[in-house]
Amino acid sequence: MTIGLQPVLKARTLHFTFLLVLQEAMLRFVLFGLVWAVVASDATSSCPQSSTSSALLQRRVAFGEAMPPIGFAKVHKTGGSTLAGIFFRLAELANSTIMLPACEDNKRLGHPFAFPGEHNLDLHGPPAHQFDMILNHAVLNPVAFASYLKPTPFFVSILREPKAQVASTYNFYRIKFGKWNSTKEYLASLETQLEKASKGRRVRQFINFQSYDLGFYEAGGMPNSTSSEVSEWIASLDKTFSFPSAGLMLITEYFDEGLALLKGRLNVALPALTYTIQKDYQHNESLSYEDLNDTEMSWVLKHAANVDMQLYHHFNRTFAKVWSKRGSSVDSDLRALQDANAALSKDCEATPPGPLCEKFATSDPDRLLYANLFRARQGLKECNDTAKH
Ligand SMILES: *[C@@H]1O[C@H](CO)[C@@H](O)[C@H](O)[C@H]1NC(C)=O
Ligand SMILES: *[C@@H]1O[C@H](CO)[C@@H](O)[C@H](O)[C@H]1NC(C)=O
Ligand SMILES: *[C@@H]1O[C@H](CO)[C@@H](O)[C@H](O)[C@H]1NC(C)=O
Ligand SMILES: *[C@@H]1O[C@H](CO)[C@@H](O)[C@H](O)[C@H]1NC(C)=O
Ligand SMILES: *[C@@H]1O[C@H](CO)[C@@H](O)[C@H](O)[C@H]1NC(C)=O
Ligand SMILES: *[C@@H]1O[C@H](CO)[C@@H](O)[C@H](O)[C@H]1NC(C)=O
Ligand SMILES: *[C@@H]1O[C@H](CO)[C@@H](O)[C@H](O)[C@H]1NC(C)=O
Repeated sequence: MTIGLQPVLKARTLHFTFLLVLQEAMLRFVLFGLVWAVVASDATSSCPQSSTSSALLQRRVAFGEAMPPIGFAKVHKTGGSTLAGIFFRLAELANSTIMLPACEDNKRLGHPFAFPGEHNLDLHGPPAHQFDMILNHAVLNPVAFASYLKPTPFFVSILREPKAQVASTYNFYRIKFGKWNSTKEYLASLETQLEKASKGRRVRQFINFQSYDLGFYEAGGMPNSTSSEVSEWIASLDKTFSFPSAGLMLITEYFDEGLALLKGRLNVALPALTYTIQKDYQHNESLSYEDLNDTEMSWVLKHAANVDMQLYHHFNRTFAKVWSKRGSSVDSDLRALQDANAALSKDCEATPPGPLCEKFATSDPDRLLYANLFRARQGLKECNDTAKH
């Protein structure tokens, strides 16, 4: 590898990699220690949006502060599994505790209903700030998430350009679950759901799927909410995901840029962030990926992704602003990440796949064995294949 990165979480080097994380933190401690006196004299903690925020960040880094607790709101069909995988591997390295779903809850924390869900409440008990990370599908409720997370959590989520997210949703549920057999049937089912919602029935997840996952309907939103009502809800999310103080809303189209920002904010070493894309149905030739035609797509965007459009455009602008104010190390972190990803991809294209790829493939949180590793570590009953996990 060109840039001297350690192999991505290779089993035997796991402990070693963790030491590297520590080493890097200590190195920063030394490097930034000198800066500290200067930073401390002009930093005020009351103004997270101002330029002092990056100074505050450096101060945290200077003192080698550990990775903050992470509240990850996993949004369907946005690259969320790839991002969740990255957080699981960080948790493996840092020995973080994860709020894992009960075996019965099929890898979800209550979703599509309220977090955390009955089985998970039974398993974990009432909130007591007991976890380092929430990573599984759950409808975002920042207060409830924070009540289970140690203080002070950093919130992360990710949004995708709605046309791409809609196409991915249609294809994933059709191919994997046989949910729809054609675009025509997909649209008909959305229409039926909208009709039921207009008669006061619960709004189903495929209507503004991204907003659904981020708690829009739990917050009282409706498919026909006005754009000013939607803006009000978005303003509350703005607070939850305000970078760098509170969180970061990633954009799928700028995934690597988002990771480069996270690297600095979470104070983690690069190898753990390395990834290849998970569940890529679009570029898999053995699967029959279908596009909606233009008329169909316009209909879906207008009726079943109207809130998502407003949400995405808002956070796409927010991300651009955050990116334009990035610290000086972010560009080199981005290049290093892309080099490491290229090395991993190359390893995965080899026959047989190399050791980097092998370790990466086995540390997939959708695999029962990997999830059970965390269960065993946290003294929870392991789930088995017959149980939905
Ligand atoms: C990991 O965490 C558990 C409890 O959360 C603790 O018992 C164990 O010693 C930790 N291991 C390491 C290597 O830090
Ligand atoms: C597709 O699904 C619809 C509704 O479930 C059903 O009526 C139709 O027969 C199905 N078509 C095919 C080709 O399977
Ligand atoms: C798009 O698909 C619909 C069926 O869902 C069909 O009725 C319509 O003719 C198609 N439009 C175009 C431009 O192909
Ligand atoms: C949205 O639909 C609901 C249910 O049909 C209705 O009660 C409400 O008035 C509508 N709101 C707007 C803003 O049109
Ligand atoms: C493509 O999809 C098939 C069937 O689901 C799967 O077995 C295969 O691993 C996928 N290929 C890639 C490169 O993801
Ligand atoms: C997202 O923001 C970028 C940068 O501001 C812009 O170039 C791009 O067109 C936006 N994407 C969409 C789909 O609006
Ligand atoms: C594992 O599967 C058996 C049935 O084969 C079931 O009785 C048992 O409860 C399952 N264990 C868990 C942890 O779900």
